[in-house]
Amino acid sequence: MRIGPLEIARPVLLAPMADVTDLPFRTLCEEHGAGFTITEFLSANALALGARKTVDKLTASLDGRPFGVQIFGREEEPLCRAAELAVASGASLVDINMGCPARRVVAGACGSALMKEPVLAQRLVRAVRGAVPERVPVSVKHRAGWDDEHVNAPEFACALVEAGAAMITVHGRTRTQGFGGRSSREVIRKVREAVPSHVPVVGNGDVVTADDAVAMRAETGCDAVMIGRGAIGNPWLFRSIAARLEGRADPGPSTPAERLAVVRRHVSLMRAHTPRPRLRLEMRKAASWYVRGLPGAAALRDRAQRLDDLDQFLALAEAFFLPAQRAA
Ligand SMILES: Cc1cc2nc3c(=O)[nH]c(=O)nc-3n(C[C@H](O)[C@H](O)[C@H](O)COP(=O)(O)O)c2cc1C
Repeated sequence: MRIGPLEIARPVLLAPMADVTDLPFRTLCEEHGAGFTITEFLSANALALGARKTVDKLTASLDGRPFGVQIFGREEEPLCRAAELAVASGASLVDINMGCPARRVVAGACGSALMKEPVLAQRLVRAVRGAVPERVPVSVKHRAGWDDEHVNAPEFACALVEAGAAMITVHGRTRTQGFGGRSSREVIRKVREAVPSHVPVVGNGDVVTADDAVAMRAETGCDAVMIGRGAIGNPWLFRSIAARLEGRADPGPSTPAERLAVVRRHVSLMRAHTPRPRLRLEMRKAASWYVRGLPGAAALRDRAQRLDDLDQFLALAEAFFLPAQRAA
């Protein structure tokens, strides 16, 4: 798939997710077949001010793989500065968040609140487009609209494309829906129909199986699918989707041996890349991801809350998975 001048290998993207899509997790998803990954949303104001915690999240994908940085804000100057910093960190794409429903973001009239201000939204895209080199596409991720009375995604997307957006991602829920109800494939289809065909439209929302990904593409005509919650602790979803899209047999869900291999890989990536102050939190979170749905998960989650270092995490995972692996 082409996003302006950028070619991506596979039309399956990992969604930006705050406190989830750090470098270790993005890497695992890339290694399991995600065609492109994007950082969590980063405050343009914080980046422009050089806030250490935010700047530290501008982490380039490993081995030179292309990746995107997502930024949010409502002022041209910090957004442009943030976009320049993203490019300096190696980003191959800058995505502007116009979909976040969180109260603290909307209170600052950022994220999904920008869907109520299409003229300003266009100005922001134009400014960021002008601030980064031609080789770096600028994209926008937004929702279906603000609420049921204002489902303006098709017009909104067209306005953004006119301003220079090279890719549009639509999460087919309104802001007021939050995460309730279903992501509307009809809205995504209408955006695909409205936007010029050379600009890829990415369908997002509720894709948790390879069948969902195939249906999302068939029902909306979208050029790619973006996966959020379905990928948390489940990077194997990308290999299943990749196989289906490429006409190969779906290798199916992960085995205990594969889960343990991913935990080991996750630990080694955290060892190399997770900032010390975040380590405890990140490993406790990850420990619970990989056992979800398995017998004994609740007890392990409990023990994971007392983990202090990565060696303990590894020992806990091995004690959990090795007997299952031997029995398999
Ligand atoms: C924990 C979490 C954090 C999220 N953070 C972001 C974010 O930083 N930027 C963004 O555009 N969307 C964010 N989202 C929304 C997802 O990118 C995605 O649009 C949404 O979850 C719907 O897709 P899904 O059904 O595949 O999860 C977040 C979602 C979750 C669950």
